[in-house]
Amino acid sequence: MTATEFEKVTIDLGDRGYDILIGSGLLADPASYSGLPLGTDALIVTNPVVGALYGRALRTALGSNYRRVHYAELPDGEAFKDWPALNSIFDALMTAGCDRKTTLFALGGGVVGDMAGFAAACYMRGVPYVQVPTTLLAQVDSSVGGKTAINHPLGKNMIGAFYQPVRVVADLGVLATLPEREVAAGLAEVIKYGPIADAAFLDWIENSLPALKARNTAALAHAVRRSCEIKASVVAQDERESGLRAILNFGHTFGHAIEAGLGYGEWLHGEAVGCGMVMAAELSMRMGLIDTGCVARLKAIIERAGLPVRAPALGADRYVELMRHDKKSEGGEIRFVVIESMGHAAVRAAPDALVREVLLACSD
Ligand code: NAD
Ligand code: GLY
Repeated sequence: MTATEFEKVTIDLGDRGYDILIGSGLLADPASYSGLPLGTDALIVTNPVVGALYGRALRTALGSNYRRVHYAELPDGEAFKDWPALNSIFDALMTAGCDRKTTLFALGGGVVGDMAGFAAACYMRGVPYVQVPTTLLAQVDSSVGGKTAINHPLGKNMIGAFYQPVRVVADLGVLATLPEREVAAGLAEVIKYGPIADAAFLDWIENSLPALKARNTAALAHAVRRSCEIKASVVAQDERESGLRAILNFGHTFGHAIEAGLGYGEWLHGEAVGCGMVMAAELSMRMGLIDTGCVARLKAIIERAGLPVRAPALGADRYVELMRHDKKSEGGEIRFVVIESMGHAAVRAAPDALVREVLLACSD
């Protein structure tokens, strides 16, 4: 069998650097996993939905590289991105007698990826892990860059670690089985890269939305590759978010408040980010940075992607309380990613009154 064709994006982080392989048919191809750190054991971490679809194929592909391939299923959903689910990964590792050369394989979307990565960071103080992202959102964002975490009831992704994978294997073929709502959620994070870093990419997305929604392979390949290139460049400059990396959180301050306020899993992460980007654009406009045409254009793209653009009615006080827990907050002051011009973002504190105006204008 000849090796599957793929494109490669490299994350340039010295001895923590790694490749993202992008192509169709990669998941089941043993060649996708060649050259990884050697060990006897592998543990596939997945959930029942993804496991039923792709667990066997990954297990078979890994069979030639590892003497023992173990398997752990976490409950499916954002509501289970928590301590008990994380602990079940440690239970699986301990029960199987896995040593510190064990490699974890995160097979799933961002929930599985964030938790498997966090478990890899902790088990025996760190074992290697490979991201095998199976949602569009995970392929363009969460599998790349080494942010791992679980949620706390008071705030999203509040407990975690920066810990880079040793490879990302993004198989475009698996996106065929993704529910339509999840494709739209992934498009939110694709759209994000335009306003923060690449105005020409936003033009391309605007024109390519029908092809992306129809899952045209060439369109998906370009979206995943360009998104990964932008993320790779940002992460290489600021791995641990001491500055620049925060721009990747455009829309997330409002979005995380929606997710936590409604209860995790009610709105998908991508849906909350989509609506959050409309709110952050509105804030940028009210701060005098961009004009109303810019906000209207972004809102139309997000709506055409199939994402909500009106925020749920949580009440301004509750929104503000939730946003104070955001990781960008400093000394109780909430800081937002704002757009200075299309393709350029910055992190700024905003006057409370302006934030409340945005909440009033954008929520039901
Ligand atoms: P998810 O992991 O919940 O997956 C979405 C749903 O799709 C799940 O029900 C899953 O079982 C199903 N699924 C996955 N792949 C499938 C496939 N190929 N076919 C059919 N069904 C499939 O959600 P997500 O949107 O992938 O990830 C969201 C999470 O990612 C959030 O917790 C968010 O905080 C996190 N995230 C992390 C980062 C980071 O940098 N680490 C960045 C963005 C988002
Ligand atoms: N998704 C935001 C980041 O990786 O920094």
